[in-house]
Amino acid sequence: MIGVYDSGMGGLSVLKELTSLMPGEDFTYFSDDAYCPYGPKDPDFIRERASIISQELIKDGAEMIVVACNTATAAAISFLREKYPIPFVGMEPAIKPAAINSRTGVIGVLATQGTFKGSLYHSTLEKLPENVRIIECVGEGLVETVEKGILEGQEVEALIHKCIDPMLAAGADHIVLGCTHYPFLKPVIEKIAGAGVTVVNPAPAVARQAEKILSGLRNVRHCGTGHYCLRHSGPGTEIQSLFQTFLLN
Ligand code: DGL
Repeated sequence: MIGVYDSGMGGLSVLKELTSLMPGEDFTYFSDDAYCPYGPKDPDFIRERASIISQELIKDGAEMIVVACNTATAAAISFLREKYPIPFVGMEPAIKPAAINSRTGVIGVLATQGTFKGSLYHSTLEKLPENVRIIECVGEGLVETVEKGILEGQEVEALIHKCIDPMLAAGADHIVLGCTHYPFLKPVIEKIAGAGVTVVNPAPAVARQAEKILSGLRNVRHCGTGHYCLRHSGPGTEIQSLFQTFLLN
């Protein structure tokens, strides 16, 4: 079984890619919705949650864990890799491929406060060519909106305009989604950004990396039965139907 977790629903954008690439695998998805959002929280707290959730998933039989959360990857991936004996796959900020394909050399990055503060993000920036300009924006309110299942409409559009208008004004031709909640807003972001702008979702590349690591662990490539199990830390009564909405979206 492969464990996948996030602060909430966002990691389902990664689970969708994982299940489409590895349809025969079993997955357990853990939404830490009792503590969502992670973005403004202290990295020590996020590491503590990462440890508790990883222990739960390992107890359930996880052979590998995908940290389907950029903020948790930033705070906890090295710690998890040192502490537990199974492989951990984290989210990679897809800025490098965006920079390679950019015509204007201006890249917009949408992420949480925690991701922007992390050393992983900074080491990615250091490797970019000097002529690449990065325009950052914390997607204020976007995680909360997605958690409510609101994926379009005036409220969402206003929040997105606030973030991406300065990127577009600066000439950005790529916008990188540095939070796993944001791919659920991709159609609205694309509509606002217009045809000349590529909106980059790193989830397919992360799923390919997970498949590669898994195939190195076993002789049999897919040995599950294609089931997935959904768990959450919060009290949510409507969460199962929200899970379905997100997985079908
Ligand atoms: N989906 C998460 C991420 O990729 C966490 C967002 C949050 O809880 O603030 O960063």
